[in-house]
Amino acid sequence: MPTFVVETPRERYPVDVSRGALRSLAAHIPAKAGKLFIVTTRDVWDAHGERMKSALGGRAFDVLYFPGGEERKRMASVEALAEEMVRLGADRTSVVIAFGGGIVGDLGGFLAAIFMRGIPVIQAPTTLLAQVDAAVGGKTGANLVSGKNLIGSFHQPLAVLIDPDVLATLPAREYRAGLFEVLKCGIIGSPALFRRMSGDASSVLAMEPAIVEEIIAESVRIKAEVVSADEKEGGVRRILNYGHTIGHALEAETQYKRLLHGEAVAFGMRAVSHLGRLAGTCSETDAARMNEAISAYGALPPLQGVTAGSLVARLGSDKKTIQGKVHFVLAEAIGKVVVRSDIEESLVLEATRRALEELAPA
Ligand SMILES: NC(=O)c1ccc[n+]([C@@H]2O[C@H](COP(=O)([O-])OP(=O)(O)OC[C@H]3O[C@@H](n4cnc5c(N)ncnc54)[C@H](O)[C@@H]3O)[C@@H](O)[C@H]2O)c1
Ligand SMILES: [Zn+2]
Repeated sequence: MPTFVVETPRERYPVDVSRGALRSLAAHIPAKAGKLFIVTTRDVWDAHGERMKSALGGRAFDVLYFPGGEERKRMASVEALAEEMVRLGADRTSVVIAFGGGIVGDLGGFLAAIFMRGIPVIQAPTTLLAQVDAAVGGKTGANLVSGKNLIGSFHQPLAVLIDPDVLATLPAREYRAGLFEVLKCGIIGSPALFRRMSGDASSVLAMEPAIVEEIIAESVRIKAEVVSADEKEGGVRRILNYGHTIGHALEAETQYKRLLHGEAVAFGMRAVSHLGRLAGTCSETDAARMNEAISAYGALPPLQGVTAGSLVARLGSDKKTIQGKVHFVLAEAIGKVVVRSDIEESLVLEATRRALEELAPA
């Protein structure tokens, strides 16, 4: 039962990856806690609410349903949930449990971060993406009309409880989208994870329990390590954005409708594998191995109408742009990346064009 520890300057908390991880929930609730509020969506509650109930072992709680969807990951939803909490008698001793995908985790975490200036949250992520990424690291927030995740707060949870069993009900496309983030973890920091993902794709896709647990644990280990070294993304945490600069541009260019986040990241990773090769940070062989591994997890949605020029034009407005400079995370080898802010735009265009060409139907 692997348990990892995230340690930031002010907090220290466990991330437990194991079948039945929720069973330890009660142990993470502070002794003096008041009311418990479970933020979730109906689909997750219908499929897995019993697990949560039995984890709480007869303890009283209220369920706060959030309708779900990126378009509802908004301040208005946080406010509505907060009003409901007040109606139900919440106070400073209340605790939020975020039980759902990354949207529930981000929004429930943000609710906890600002409710009465901050109450604790426990993260119980139920999508692969949330398990390997969103739930670990304390980033919480909501979208503005102007852009995704533009308001938010760092609010580290008391604990993150990751039960791979809940993934059994996840739609296959959501699962695959999460696998691209796992692959990312391999590329940025774990040759062993990368080898597993590229060599055993059929077992991973078939959700063989042992391998699923292993790849989640290894991804969490990397995320926990990176976040512990750099909570607020001043330095090394940026490497988690591997594939995300161009991925975010693609999500925006397709109005967040055609691709899931992980799929957009997969495209971004294809583009930066070419970019690494063109900029000379990685070998052709490694670039090809990375692209093969991405391909092993299935086709991406068609991208007709998207041009390299339109994607590159969007890069300057990415939230991660620092003083007008676009930072790219590029592979040096599989398992090792470097952050570069001096990449010629012509190379970025060429790499993006390559990635688009490869995905175009023959
Ligand atoms: N805070 C961070 O560091 C961080 C990192 C990455 C992504 N994110 C955020 O995460 C969000 C995306 O998260 P996501 O990909 O999990 O999407 P999501 O939260 O929308 O979940 C995807 C869908 O699956 C459903 N679902 C969840 N668990 C299920 C289960 N076990 N069985 C069946 N259905 C289930 C959800 O209700 C939803 O319809 C984005 O808003 C993104 O900004 C945050
Ligand atoms: Zn991501």
